[in-house]
Formats: sequence, structure tokens, C-alpha cells
Amino acid sequence: MSDRTYGFGLVGCGVIAPTHAEAISRIENAQLLGVCDLNEDAAKACAAEHGAEAYTDLAEMLAREDLDVVNILTPSGLHARLGVQCADAGKHVICTKPIDITLENIDALIEAGDRNGVKIAATHQNRSYPVYEKVRRYIDEGRLGKLLYGNAFVPWFRSDEYYAKGWQGTKALDGGGALINQSIHYIDLLVWFMGKVERIYGFADALLHDIETEDIGSAVLKFEGGRHGMIQGTTCTYNGMPARIELHGTKGNIVVVGDEVALWDVEGDERIEDPMAGRAGGASDPKGGMQENAVVAHVKQIGDVLASIEEDRAPMIDGHEARRAVEVILSIYQASETGEPVVLA
Ligand SMILES: NC(=O)c1ccc[n+]([C@@H]2O[C@H](COP(=O)([O-])OP(=O)(O)OC[C@H]3O[C@@H](n4cnc5c(N)ncnc54)[C@H](O)[C@@H]3O)[C@@H](O)[C@H]2O)c1
Repeated sequence: MSDRTYGFGLVGCGVIAPTHAEAISRIENAQLLGVCDLNEDAAKACAAEHGAEAYTDLAEMLAREDLDVVNILTPSGLHARLGVQCADAGKHVICTKPIDITLENIDALIEAGDRNGVKIAATHQNRSYPVYEKVRRYIDEGRLGKLLYGNAFVPWFRSDEYYAKGWQGTKALDGGGALINQSIHYIDLLVWFMGKVERIYGFADALLHDIETEDIGSAVLKFEGGRHGMIQGTTCTYNGMPARIELHGTKGNIVVVGDEVALWDVEGDERIEDPMAGRAGGASDPKGGMQENAVVAHVKQIGDVLASIEEDRAPMIDGHEARRAVEVILSIYQASETGEPVVLA
């Protein structure tokens, strides 16, 4: 690492912004310089809270030469467009999830990064939770044997008020509902663990809320190598329940509920079974996932982007990696609309 300090800017000063600001404050070679929001009050409040300058005009913030990295934290459908603007200004870009809501937009953002020689990255904080890092290490080391099937279930709840007050659940800005907004954390983990998805059957519907996108999505997947998988993500579960990831290989079963181990039954390891496992997380509270563990994970992922700049390599979750979960989710929507399975290239 050089002794250089990287100047950061945030675009979008809503629910997720304090997590990024706090993470940046904990990274030694990072400093938050500016925050930008179309809502001046939101920008000023965030700036005052985190010791940065407030902007309502992104171009003005991007004109700062001491700004190196911009974190895009606006409604999802704006990520790529704003990211391209930042990349064209020579800034590295870190988008919160989802990196964007269409593959065309994501590809344009990746291309803008290549064209301008800047990094394009995304935060999917769950990948940096110790429990999932350990799962990933076990898969890499072959300790689960041959992976056979894996599932992700996200039985969460969001209220009518949640959908009524914002951009969530709209096609234009959320790009979907329960799958692309909430369940993406666990869909991203599933594809990270299980590998490339080859074929998808799916349904997406609004069963409980009056929204133009889905509050429940269900899918059956075939991964490379013939492995099976299932996804079910909702925001209509009574009271909300913790998310659940299940992985099954020839040498082990792992079940993680609410980011805690519920079952660890792996050859050669002491068996763990914990029926009480399962933090509520974002199960019924949109801010419920924004705890200390999320901040620590953001420190790792934002810190990795700075390391990737110094080491001239791709970030851990670059544009291509972040695109994978979005591609699966959009394929579930397509399968639901057409009634036909989707074969991924
Ligand atoms: N990683 C996570 O766990 C997590 C949690 C919550 C939200 N998110 C993601 O963060 C993003 C924002 O979600 P949120 O809940 O913070 O939303 P929010 O509605 O609370 O905040 C969004 C902010 O962006 C501002 N904004 C809108 N358009 C803008 C523009 N063109 N330029 C500048 N500012 C603009 C709005 O005024 C608002 O203050 C979404 O993509 C969401 O998926 C991630």
C-alpha cells in the first residue's frame, strides 16, 4: 500500500448512506470529502453528520480533483447512469446492490470503467460476513465434496407504507421487487457458492401488496455440472422470518439461517446444530440489516477496492461479478412472464 489517502464522495444520502460513511471513516487511507443528494436537506444533514461537504449537483462534486472514489447509493435504477458519469469524470465507482437493474446498463457501466481506466465495483456485504467467508473457503478447499444442490430462501416482510412512500417496488427505479431489492443478498451468495446458472424456471407475482412488481418470486435452477437449486424471496411473510441458505455436498450439509450457522454437518468437523440460530436482520425492518456486522463487511469490501487500485487488479466484486445475481433475477422475471424456462448463455 502507498501512503496515499483516497478521497470519497457519496451520491444518495438515504438509508444505506450512513453504513458507507461509517465504513469509510474506519478505513485508514480513506476520507469522506463530499456527499451529494438532490434533496438539499438530506445532503446537508449527511454532510454535517460525517464531516463532509454537501452537494446537490453531482457534476460540481465530481469537479473536485481530490475526489478519487464515488459510492453510488441512490435508487437502484440510477446506479449505472450516475456511475458512468463518475467514471467519465475519472473517478472509481462503488455501487451498492444491485449494481443496476438492467444488463444493458450494467454493461455500459463496465465499459465506462474500462474506457476510463477506473475500477467499477459493487458492495454485496454478506459475502464478507465471516460465516459466508468460511463456507466459501470450504467449497474452495473441496471440503463439502461434490456440491449437489443449494437453496436460498428469503421470507421477509415489508409493509404497504414502505412501498407507498418511496421508489421501492417500481419498475423504473427498483427494477423489480422482493427479488432484486431484498433477496439479492442471498441470491448473490447462492451463485457465488454454487457457480454458473444454466437454466431457470420461475414465477414472480404480487400476492399481498399493491405494487407493479413482485412481492414473491420462486425459481428452480440448474447450475453448471447439473447441480440443482431453488430460490424463494418474498416481502409478504407474516412478521418476516430470517433468510436461509442451504448447501448440500457429498461430504457435508450447511444451513445458515439469518447469517448464523443452524447446521454444520461436514465430514471431519465437529457437528453443530443450533435451532436458535438466525438474526432477524432485514426480515421485517428495512434498516434491520444495517448493524455493526454490515459496517465491518463494508469496510472489507470498500478497503478491497482501494487495494485493487494499488495492486492494479480487479476488485473482489467487480462489475462482472455483481452482474451475475442481476442476470439470474431478470431471468426469473422473464421465465415468469413467458411461462418458458430461460437458458443462460
Ligand atoms: N447493502 C444494503 O444492505 C442496502 C440496504 C438498503 C439499501 N440499499 C441500496 O441502496 C440504494 C438506496 O437505497 P436507500 O434505502 O438508501 O434509499 P433511500 O430512498 O433511503 O435514499 C435514496 C436517496 O437518493 C437520493 N437521490 C435520488 N436520486 C438522486 C440523484 N439523481 N442524485 C443524487 N441523489 C439522488 C434521494 O433523494 C434519497 O435521499 C438502493 O439501490 C438500495 O438497493 C442497500
